[in-house]
Amino acid sequence: MKRSEINAIIRDAENFFAEMRFALPPFASWTADDWRTKGEECAEIADNSLGWDITDFGSGDFSRVGLLLITIRNGSLDNPLYPKPYAEKIMIVGENQVTPTHFHWSKQEDIINRGGGELAVRLYNSDENEALSDTDVVVSLDGVKTTLKAGSLIYLKPGESITMTRGLYHSFWGREGCGKVLVGEVSKTNDDNTDNRFLESTGRFPAIDEDEPPYRLLCNEYRKYMKK
Ligand SMILES: [Fe+2]
Repeated sequence: MKRSEINAIIRDAENFFAEMRFALPPFASWTADDWRTKGEECAEIADNSLGWDITDFGSGDFSRVGLLLITIRNGSLDNPLYPKPYAEKIMIVGENQVTPTHFHWSKQEDIINRGGGELAVRLYNSDENEALSDTDVVVSLDGVKTTLKAGSLIYLKPGESITMTRGLYHSFWGREGCGKVLVGEVSKTNDDNTDNRFLESTGRFPAIDEDEPPYRLLCNEYRKYMKK
């Protein structure tokens, strides 16, 4: 992705967060120059990749297949310095902007519509070969146990949520005609490097074409700027 595209996406996102009155943690507004003044006191942010995370999943078309997320808090599965067993993210999902079908081996997560449009979610169980299963899906929708046919589509309205158990394949996008969606995630500790099983192979952290300076750093860039 071009840095200019990432910068524009982040500026747009800041406007949407403000419109939705969702206040972000301080590190979300630090610039590259701010990061140059930071040292080991900020290691938790860098080591756990808190902050801005933008991916087009290798599609080359962020508005069609892509996701903007901010990891607000997280622990580490393998670093004993960060035993926090939970994580929280806030995401923005555009109309028809797809996050491709995937499940998590370790993480259980609740996906929450925090406001805006409606979130379309498609669900399948995985089978023993990690392929799509045709068995019924049983999910908890805000505490209500619900049985759905494989591949069913549900729409989460603002305030509604779904629990994604381990091994449950899910894809999601903003429902057409309803506007973009502010989406929360509350989960166990998250590791995007090892715990995402995509049905079709995708890219996760895009290569960046540096056509202009960064407006905000992405969550895997802090160490390049921090004081040693
Ligand atoms: Fe997920």
